[in-house]
Amino acid sequence: MAHPREVITLEAAVLRRWRGGDLAEMHRVVTEALPHLRPWMPWAAGNYSLDTAAEFLDLCDRNWHTGAAYTYAITVDGAIAGCIAMECRIGSGGLEIGYWLHPDYTGLGLATTGTAALVDEAFALPGIDHVEIWHDAANTASRRIPQRLGFTCVDRRSPSRDPRAGCEDGIDVIWRLTRPAQR
Ligand SMILES: CC(C)(COP(=O)(O)OP(=O)(O)OC[C@H]1O[C@@H](n2cnc3c(N)ncnc32)[C@H](O)[C@@H]1OP(=O)(O)O)[C@@H](O)C(=O)NCCC(=O)NCCS
Repeated sequence: MAHPREVITLEAAVLRRWRGGDLAEMHRVVTEALPHLRPWMPWAAGNYSLDTAAEFLDLCDRNWHTGAAYTYAITVDGAIAGCIAMECRIGSGGLEIGYWLHPDYTGLGLATTGTAALVDEAFALPGIDHVEIWHDAANTASRRIPQRLGFTCVDRRSPSRDPRAGCEDGIDVIWRLTRPAQR
């Protein structure tokens, strides 16, 4: 089975596949970021235990092997700044990209440049001809990423697919980028 690269070097960051040794730092980063994530990410609603973090890293590892999802730490100078993933959730031929950042690392273009890099990885995989980003209609920071990268808004759906987080209005906005025809 073809997989994307495990390490992707960007101008200001490195995306790298999560590893078991990330547990303590990842748990600290998520715990610090919870108030910033809670409005938009249902999984951030409660406390984030070390067991939950370990389960997440295990799941990332298993999903990488099966191809169900490819999840990366976003790192800056070796420190964990956030997370970005592409997942098989939107049917055949497509991968969905999602992201979050620790608040100290917003406003730097990390989510946008990371998404652009994963789009390239996705289109290099056999059989992938489109990439989507799904966000809640109220999540303007998330919306700006597909907008900057030239995605097209293809649908709005209510009720939302996932459980609703604190500030969400329950409408999924779906953006798609289709692989350019190969010559
Ligand atoms: C969604 C989220 C990741 C967006 O973070 P962000 O910092 O706004 O996005 P980026 O990292 O792409 O940074 C973009 C900003 O950096 C600036 N920037 C600097 N260099 C840049 C570059 N090379 N490329 C693009 N933007 C750049 C942009 O102008 C923009 O600034 P602005 O916010 O003042 O307009 C963040 O708000 C977050 O973690 N939210 C909580 C979790 C969440 O909602 N996840 C998405 C669920 S669908």
